[in-house]
Amino acid sequence: MSLSIGIHDLSFATAEFVLPHTALAAYNGTEIGKYHVGIGQESMSIPAADEDIVTMGAAAAAPIIARHGSDRIRTVVFATESSIDQAKSAGVYVHSLLQLPSATRVVELKQACYGATAALQFAIGLVQRDPAQQVLVIASDVSKYELDSPGEATQGAAAVAMLVSLDPALVRIEDPSGLFTADVMDFWRPNYRNEALVDGHESINAYLQAVEGTWKDYTEQGGRTLEEFAAFCYHQPFTKMAYKAHRHLLNYCGYDTDKNDIARAIAQTTAYNTVIGNSYTASVYLALAALLDQAGDLTGKSVGMFSYGSGSVAEFFAATVVAGYRAHLRTEHNRETIARRRPVDYTGYRALHERSFPTDGGHHATEAQTTGPFRLAGLSGHKRLYETR
Ligand code: HMG
Repeated sequence: MSLSIGIHDLSFATAEFVLPHTALAAYNGTEIGKYHVGIGQESMSIPAADEDIVTMGAAAAAPIIARHGSDRIRTVVFATESSIDQAKSAGVYVHSLLQLPSATRVVELKQACYGATAALQFAIGLVQRDPAQQVLVIASDVSKYELDSPGEATQGAAAVAMLVSLDPALVRIEDPSGLFTADVMDFWRPNYRNEALVDGHESINAYLQAVEGTWKDYTEQGGRTLEEFAAFCYHQPFTKMAYKAHRHLLNYCGYDTDKNDIARAIAQTTAYNTVIGNSYTASVYLALAALLDQAGDLTGKSVGMFSYGSGSVAEFFAATVVAGYRAHLRTEHNRETIARRRPVDYTGYRALHERSFPTDGGHHATEAQTTGPFRLAGLSGHKRLYETR
């Protein structure tokens, strides 16, 4: 009999500041309906000068360590595409900030927004090998496009931490997965650039091709039928994308695409992403958090999970909600995490977007802005200095 392995706890963090799309629209003259309705975004999280993927990742994981301890965690997998170092894993900084045991393996994974799903699947493999162990998966990203580009409205920042274990308290991750890889240049970020390059409309097509590809493979591998899913969590670069994706899947399967059916499958998955923006690796797991926090009792129900990373790699799998999950949710904390962000005006956002550390190896302290539990204090001798507040 196969073991029940999955997500035992899930916690997220986001950035200090929030830019409402009304401010962006007022600046660039866009009709607000394009943002609110056309792409389905209300606001986006903007990191403070002293925040990055490490501070958000540590802030997401700290409540998990506080609740479960770290005795059984022997692996930390940090998934990101906004890496801060070409050699050292961002997870090692988080390991240090959270004072995890030295007898831990820590590694960073990358494949655009898909990385966290690879991390989750690898974690399941490790737990299968030794069911006494737990794996801490952290997905943390800052989404940054060029100012005044069409992608600017789809930025955001967040981190999700997940504790993967035997007999999980939230969801069981099922076999099989539907897999799809295609070599496409829809979105990429060369090492010398801070902002991603994107062919926006091509990226939407590439995403939809991946929906088809994963579903085809999922079906061939003997997966569940569409009717067996209570809801679908799609990667949400902007929340309207989830609606496009589900309509595409229904069409592909030869079903009617009734607006209300699509809304029933998607609407409860978008609440966090619509106000946080694209958080790349974290996005599809924020969709899961939103669903679990908002839906009625999902005990025993299966949720379709679609993870997409440009370039591209995608995976479709089922997450089945386990009995008693509601007692383990962090609903209040999640809402507070979003509500506590401080509004930034357009000028302030632009200044944050344009800032970068000098590369001269000198000592460069960062302005103290974040009110979160961890901060990036500065850069000295090319070394990033973190502190617990
Ligand atoms: P755009 O070209 O400025 O927008 O950029 P548009 O003209 O396509 O309009 C967007 C929608 O708003 C359209 O709806 C318009 O009709 C509608 P649709 O036809 O798509 O249904 N609209 C309005 N609706 C109501 N009232 C109005 C109004 N005006 C227009 N007044 C684009 C949009 C998404 C392309 C751009 O923001 C972009 O390039 N974003 C970045 C790329 C992206 O997010 N791609 C998604 C798929 S790839 C992916 O998910 C991977 C990724 O997360 C990265 C990774 O994997 O690492 C990005």
